[in-house]
Amino acid sequence: MKTRRIGDTTVSAIGLGGMPMSIEGRPDDRRRSIATIHAALDAGITLIDTADAYHVDGTDIGHNETLIAEALAAYGSDTSDVLVATKGGHTRPGGGSWDLDGSPDHLRAACDESLKRLGVAAIGLYQFHRPDPKVPYAESIGAIRDLLDEGKIRMAGISNANLSQIEVANEILGGRLVSVQNEFSPAFRSSEPELRQCADMGIAFLPWSPLGGISNASDLGSQHAGFRDVAQAHGVSPQQVTLAWMLAKAPTVIPIPGSSRPETIRDSAAAVDLELTHDELAALERA
Ligand SMILES: NC(=O)c1ccc[n+]([C@@H]2O[C@H](COP(=O)([O-])OP(=O)(O)OC[C@H]3O[C@@H](n4cnc5c(N)ncnc54)[C@H](OP(=O)(O)O)[C@@H]3O)[C@@H](O)[C@H]2O)c1
Repeated sequence: MKTRRIGDTTVSAIGLGGMPMSIEGRPDDRRRSIATIHAALDAGITLIDTADAYHVDGTDIGHNETLIAEALAAYGSDTSDVLVATKGGHTRPGGGSWDLDGSPDHLRAACDESLKRLGVAAIGLYQFHRPDPKVPYAESIGAIRDLLDEGKIRMAGISNANLSQIEVANEILGGRLVSVQNEFSPAFRSSEPELRQCADMGIAFLPWSPLGGISNASDLGSQHAGFRDVAQAHGVSPQQVTLAWMLAKAPTVIPIPGSSRPETIRDSAAAVDLELTHDELAALERA
């Protein structure tokens, strides 16, 4: 497995996104999700993205974090090199809704709960999930800085951030911002400026919903003919081409495709070995 860096930590160049295993539509059979996480580990994946808010309603908060902790504990070999990246700042009151709470009090309490669910002394990477318009951004990031200073989190990241928020967060964190996680896919390319800024700053950029999101991922090839054509030429899936295209954009890009089946994460992991030509990459920029 090829590797990249998040802060001081080496991780696989492709991560596993945990959301499809825990929100609406998740597998009924928990064993299928555990098998998916184990397939990711077998493929050499050492980055797993999760959030306290990957659950369905107030009765199962932290479903995904608990699942990941269980899968890591049940894996037959050493998992100490696996970076679990979680997030705080979103809430899910029920009925399919997503709410925000970026207050320092909430973030501190959320981090404590994530620590317990993950069963660790310090969270490897803690990401502020999304700016909360009700709370000044500097206050939310100040809470993340305090968690870092207290050693409750080992590294700090942000998500759904614009160019100026990346600058502000890095300043408040005293230059210790290690990652930015924004939406980026063939259908959603407007985070390209943030991707470039991260490359310039040497900060990891984690594209979320890289395949277009849970309900669109299987149609990627039919919705994006250019990706389908390159996939056919290489005899691989258009999803794999998409991930290879992202990896080629900058050495700081680390896609985190979601998965709830062993076969999809295996296919995604293989994208690290797919070499696309200069002409193919140029065509995909226009596709
Ligand atoms: N920071 C944020 O605000 C935010 C928002 C959304 C998501 N995220 C993170 O980003 C991760 C990825 O986003 P996402 O899960 O929403 O969407 P996605 O990665 O674009 O798509 C996920 C779906 O793609 C399918 N898939 C994965 N690899 C495939 C392959 N090689 N071939 C065919 N299908 C494939 C999976 O199907 P199966 O389920 O059948 O395996 C999965 O349900 C999430 O899991 C989460 O960790 C973060």
